[in-house]
Amino acid sequence: MIRSKHLSRRRFVHWGSATLALITFPGCAEEVIDEPPENNYTPSTTPPMIEEEVGGEITLEQIGEWESAGVLSPNDPGEWGEKIIGHYPIMQRNQDQVTVFVPHPMDEEHYIGAIYLKDDSGMVVASERLSGTDELAFASFTVSEDISLTAYSVCNLHQVWSAPEVRTVFNPGPWSEKIIGHMPRVLIQGDQATVSAPHPMGEDHYIVGLYLTDQDGAMIGKTQLSPSDEASYTFTIPEGTTEIQPWSLCDDHDLWVGQSVSLDEAESTNLYEMSGVLTSDEPGQWGEKIAGHYPIASIVDQIVSVRVSHPMETDHYIEAIYLKDAEGHLLGFKSLSPGDDPSASFFIVDQSAECKAYAMCNLHEVWAAPIVRSGDRPGPWADKVASHTPILEISADGLTATVSVAHPMDDEHYIVAMYLSDSNGAVIAKKQLNPQDYPEAQYTFELPDDSGTITPWALCDDHDLWIGASVST
Ligand SMILES: [Fe+2]
Ligand SMILES: [Fe+2]
Ligand SMILES: [Fe+2]
Ligand SMILES: [Fe+2]
Repeated sequence: MIRSKHLSRRRFVHWGSATLALITFPGCAEEVIDEPPENNYTPSTTPPMIEEEVGGEITLEQIGEWESAGVLSPNDPGEWGEKIIGHYPIMQRNQDQVTVFVPHPMDEEHYIGAIYLKDDSGMVVASERLSGTDELAFASFTVSEDISLTAYSVCNLHQVWSAPEVRTVFNPGPWSEKIIGHMPRVLIQGDQATVSAPHPMGEDHYIVGLYLTDQDGAMIGKTQLSPSDEASYTFTIPEGTTEIQPWSLCDDHDLWVGQSVSLDEAESTNLYEMSGVLTSDEPGQWGEKIAGHYPIASIVDQIVSVRVSHPMETDHYIEAIYLKDAEGHLLGFKSLSPGDDPSASFFIVDQSAECKAYAMCNLHEVWAAPIVRSGDRPGPWADKVASHTPILEISADGLTATVSVAHPMDDEHYIVAMYLSDSNGAVIAKKQLNPQDYPEAQYTFELPDDSGTITPWALCDDHDLWIGASVST
């Protein structure tokens, strides 16, 4: 078996268009090759303190001694219930690379003395001795990816702690039904980062800890919570940080890592929104320009696609398209330049969430819109499906398309705009309406040749954008 202790570089797992950096730590030595210990120990009853010996192989007998007082975990921390997050081993895997980090101090009196891995059968498959003079409680190993692993950390004062692999949205282990409640997110305001998870907090089941890592995977904040706290904590972001990744530890359901957020992008959105966000109902001074700035957001499975029917010229263009959840967490951001297609796609964890898409025009401020409404997904407007769903009719000669909505057109409440999209979702026609010129919510578009399959969209000033049934020409 090869145990590699090499200088760690960034390694990545992909999350939609974003990238998660595996946590990595510098300062390890060269690769070494050795044999794994055999699994033939019998636990003894001696106290689980690490012998004052540095170097040398870790024997199974020694592991047996360490574990003899019990192996601790977040829901069974023994007498060290206040010390969970400092001892919980953070194990990440990328193919056959395994890293384990323990956010624990390393000094002569108090340190992590060993990190090891066991497979499903309890056999020790890799181990590494550490000492109080090591900079970090970190080890990396090479283990075949089809072996399921548990990581163990050994504190010289606070026993042995175990943990499975870090859970992610794509690799939730046994908790695929529990992703949404455990997925941590981060809200950035200036130099403050608030990490939270939408998880209940009760004596029997709660979020034990929240962590923050930076663009290099280095841990820049951690806090332990108690059941009477909220599952939220605000950290001060250290200087030099460009990217933040949130983590949450549940006492019953392991450690989860969330999507990383770029500080620049988060700060840009805060700046854009500082003087308000425009909508179909509150378009500010740009009431004539709603149709050309409204973000048209649709969703398929967990991918939200956002388009804006807006020019992308040198002096007038959409600078950025982004997505936030109802609490303002940034879920995705794309910056755009003149000549680019004004569209973006983002992965979201919770496909039923009320997200908002945003489009920032360089001249006409930032506009926000929820994901398009339909009979299947009416949001708060379940009783308004019939009065808002657009109906498309193509003329017999195929030259025109008439969109109509059974909706009033009065000053306070009316259909503001209609769109037609092609089978790729691209907007091929749009029209802004007003109650004075259009007493009925109906408009006839001329169709280009070979329009293919067309989909109608109608925007109410009060009740969002709705999509209707597609028709082929
Ligand atoms: Fe400790
Ligand atoms: Fe949980
Ligand atoms: Fe504009
Ligand atoms: Fe309406």
